Amino acid sequence: MKVKTSFFCTACGAESPKWIGKCTSCGSWNTYVEEVIEKKSHAEEKSKAWKPAKEEKTVPRKLQEIGALSTIRLDTGDRELNRTLGGGIVLGSVILVGGQPGIGKSTLLLQLALAGPLKVLYVSGEESEEQIKMRADRVGKINPDCYVYTDINVSNILKEAVKLQPDIVIIDSIQTLVSPFIDSTPGSISQVRECTGELQRFAKESNIPVFIIGHITKEGSIAGPKLLEHMVDVVLQFEGDQQYAYRILRTLKNRFGSTDEIGIYAMDTNGLREISNPSELLISPDDTKLSGSAVAASLEGLRPLLLETQALVSPAVYGTPQRSATGFDLRRLSMLLAVLEKRCGLPFGQNDVFLNIAGGLRVSDPAIDLGVVASLISSLQDIHISKKICFAGEVGLSGEIRPVSRIEQRVQEAARLGFETIYISKYRSELLAKKELKTDVVMISRIDELLQEVFS
Ligand code: TYD
Ligand code: MG
Repeated sequence: MKVKTSFFCTACGAESPKWIGKCTSCGSWNTYVEEVIEKKSHAEEKSKAWKPAKEEKTVPRKLQEIGALSTIRLDTGDRELNRTLGGGIVLGSVILVGGQPGIGKSTLLLQLALAGPLKVLYVSGEESEEQIKMRADRVGKINPDCYVYTDINVSNILKEAVKLQPDIVIIDSIQTLVSPFIDSTPGSISQVRECTGELQRFAKESNIPVFIIGHITKEGSIAGPKLLEHMVDVVLQFEGDQQYAYRILRTLKNRFGSTDEIGIYAMDTNGLREISNPSELLISPDDTKLSGSAVAASLEGLRPLLLETQALVSPAVYGTPQRSATGFDLRRLSMLLAVLEKRCGLPFGQNDVFLNIAGGLRVSDPAIDLGVVASLISSLQDIHISKKICFAGEVGLSGEIRPVSRIEQRVQEAARLGFETIYISKYRSELLAKKELKTDVVMISRIDELLQEVFS
């Protein structure tokens, strides 16, 4: 039997008829693998497969004559998910949900399936019906219109979906699906590509939105070709630290809305819980008067988030001082320590430094620099910082405090949560409208001013 094979780049999904050392599409080396793509005998069967009901021919039309699409959005019943999607699920869209194993992707989408009032087809190639039932019992909600189907053949799945006509289809996960017309193993590039293509066609044809769960590789990208991200309408990423309960749902791509919104959840013993007031949970109560912690006014997407940064600075026992950071970039920590040493003469060079962002969140907002610096000094000098004070500013190499984006929102959130003082950059402070605020806004321009203001 004649077998057709082809070569695929594991980094970007480009195809080549023969093996090449360097991908001509993305430039990476040694990424091509051979995959069986089609057996001859399947060619006839293909004619019997699931097909769109109507094959309309489109003709070029004047843009002016095309009416605006009134996008109908389905309410998911989950405020955080609605918010992340930009207001709900757009009909006919394909939504990819990526995340590390065990982070809660299946739970998130099963909860969506069980929330009602939508009619949902939940397809799982990973778990048995009983396992799904067990999880559903744990989550505790019952939607009489939730159908579970365990199959991995994408043609069968789509045939059932056409019969059932659900409001949404959920696929857990794309790496387990196989198209009968391709002979490579599930999870291989050609399978993932073909199956996603089928699901995409189904969604556009039937106007039924499809959620696709995708695993993530160690490097943090959605496994399989990058191409998968190009094929779908929305890419969501579910992330968090497994040791902690908090999970963030982030939009990486959205054809129907902004990518700035995030959803925040906590994983409980009975499923994921929406968190609408994250700041209040992330700051521990101020009754211990211990040194080494400071609150930073950060921003996740468009959402202000006040976080506690914790530092421990102690004399180095071994020759080379240790530096360790959780939830914060280690190189950035080294930079901040160097700035503190050079500009303020603080002896961090002889100390071990440990930094932690409470709640297991990973933040890349430069505005938390000032909070980090405050917690470092607090621990070094063993001076407690009141939890009524928070910080928002980026620290530059010469020790200057630089302005940060959306300062007004940060200040408002601090005021809402009852902070008495917020330290921000002096520069471009005109961005902060002169309004009646319940919070004192202190503007500083250099870190030695921080030392004087807070630690003297
Ligand atoms: P899961 O949704 O299976 O992750 P994924 O599909 O991303 O691989 O989540 C599994 C983890 O969540 C597992 O470690 C158990 C935990 N969990 C809870 O803590 N509470 C719950 O109610 C459920 C259903 C799961
Ligand atoms: Mg899963």
